[in-house]
Amino acid sequence: MTPSIISRRIRHPRCKGLLISFEGSEGCGKSTQIGRLAARLRRLGCIVHATREPGGTPVGERIRHLLKFSKTNGKMVAEAELLLFSASRSQLVREKILPALSRGEIVLCDRFVDSTTVYQGMARRLDHAFIARLNRFVIAGREPDLTLVLDLDVRAGLSRARKKTKTADRMEAQRLSFYQAVRRGFSALARKNPRRVKLIDSSRSIHDVAGDIWRHTQRLLTR
Ligand code: TMP
Repeated sequence: MTPSIISRRIRHPRCKGLLISFEGSEGCGKSTQIGRLAARLRRLGCIVHATREPGGTPVGERIRHLLKFSKTNGKMVAEAELLLFSASRSQLVREKILPALSRGEIVLCDRFVDSTTVYQGMARRLDHAFIARLNRFVIAGREPDLTLVLDLDVRAGLSRARKKTKTADRMEAQRLSFYQAVRRGFSALARKNPRRVKLIDSSRSIHDVAGDIWRHTQRLLTR
């Protein structure tokens, strides 16, 4: 065997059932980075599913509409919001994520269970212990293998998000202090779970952010 073949084999990541979630406040650049990571993994021969929350299934997409855009959602209370996000996730986990992981495929999820911990728990201040229990039930105990939090100044993120969608949906129309609590919440989560949750400075170029994401992913693939 020639040395080049040996080194290529050693470097080549082993594609296996992995769940990688992307988190962060509004406009932090998740979708761009998910697209790049998916393409890079596919070039290595991995089967990759990119999905999102709320949504990702026909049931979940209906719930997404209700949570974000429906004209009837103005009076939605925080408790109903929590249960709707959880309902969408329950469906996605069982219909898509667990089957894909059991086939040894990679799932990239635009938001997952940490969004509930942070948005409904820390920013809306609903009962933390209840949310932790609900989250475990919803994800059937399947935590992400890696969570990448794209960290960005709240004002910069909101202006990016508004440029993209023009009009703010219900979740984009909260007070500034709400998104500041979200940002602090994700930082706290990363400090509490340093092995799984990585905080990435998203104010840099797309290329630099993608470089960090790739380094964390490679470590996971070769673990
Ligand atoms: P996005 O798809 O544009 O990120 O919008 C989803 C919005 O829903 C975003 O404001 C975050 C919020 N969200 C929660 O509040 N809790 C959750 O559990 C999830 C998944 C999202």
